[in-house]
Amino acid sequence: MDVFVELDQIQAEFQKDLDQASDLVQLDQLKIKYLGRAGLATNLLRKISSVQKEERPRFGAEANKMKLEISDFISQKVEMIGARSNVNIAEHLDVTLPGRIPVSGTLHPTTQIVREICDIFVSLGFSVIEGPEIELDKYNFEMLNIPKGHPARDMWSTMWIEKPNEHDTNSTLLRTHTSPMQARFMENTSPPIRILVPGKCYRYEATDPTHEWHFYQIEGLVVDKGINFANLKGTLYEFAKRVFGNDRKIRFRCDYFPFVEPGVDMSISNFKDSSGIRPIKGRDEDWIEILGAGMVHPEVLKGVGYDPDIYTGFAFGMGPERISMLRDGIDDIRHFYSNDLRFLGQFV
Ligand code: FA5
Repeated sequence: MDVFVELDQIQAEFQKDLDQASDLVQLDQLKIKYLGRAGLATNLLRKISSVQKEERPRFGAEANKMKLEISDFISQKVEMIGARSNVNIAEHLDVTLPGRIPVSGTLHPTTQIVREICDIFVSLGFSVIEGPEIELDKYNFEMLNIPKGHPARDMWSTMWIEKPNEHDTNSTLLRTHTSPMQARFMENTSPPIRILVPGKCYRYEATDPTHEWHFYQIEGLVVDKGINFANLKGTLYEFAKRVFGNDRKIRFRCDYFPFVEPGVDMSISNFKDSSGIRPIKGRDEDWIEILGAGMVHPEVLKGVGYDPDIYTGFAFGMGPERISMLRDGIDDIRHFYSNDLRFLGQFV
């Protein structure tokens, strides 16, 4: 068919289509039909090579003009339909209705408790630092007095990134606790040290209401001349009172962590009141353990180049989600990571 005849036919067909198009979706389809990659107007222009040489300028000009016109007509009609729907909206707008409150996000409950705990320790003179989640065997175990083959490695079920190597301590793993930052920080700093290390940890563990395979820990480390166990007790007691209230008692019992000596766990009281009600709901125990702690082991101090006859220190590690569970009455740690808005929305 002669290209000029085809051009006339396309124009006529477009005019008909345009008259019939009554909404934005149809107009969008028209755009594709005529101006899309395989559109009628686009394809016609491609036929220019088959037009006689002397006719090509005229054909090119007319075909391009048609494309521009089609585009303009569609835009005009889009505007017209848009304006009409605005008029409709204005007609139906009831300005007396109360406004809709926009939904806004909130900080994740883990972030909230981590920040709250950090604020307490910052007010006691601690600085907050962070460390890597992918850690070396050297810092996660070796420099914490847990050499290869030490049975205490079983306390931290480990997800290795590289197969542990018999001969060196550079294999990588997902850190099982925040304690490696003790060694990393001391290695590059001279005392006095007073740091807090919040961060994510990972363990190859089955999950249950109190265990996740990924969770947060907050580590504390204080090292200076003359630091003793009374400093550890005083600091942690102050922390427990600020989180759980003034009436709370604390209890220390011996516990074992290879990087502290002596090692302890700290519990808070959960005694029944005169009506038989306990402050922490759902836990029918007089004492509830909340963290592990102890005096930094002399071997750890020696490993980072400190003289344990001059410097002493204490360290502690806690799980902020478990602390939030106790204080805020949350019965399952897995809620923290299930992304359920019914749970998250309660922590505004
Ligand atoms: C440790 O990880 C030691 N690094 C803590 C420490 C630091 C002791 C400094 C002495 C000095 P533990 O494995 O008990 O200890 O973990 C510490 C806290 O992390 C626990 O009290 C608990 O609150 C939290 N935690 C441990 N495992 C999980 C888990 N699977 N899910 C949720 N929280 C956990």
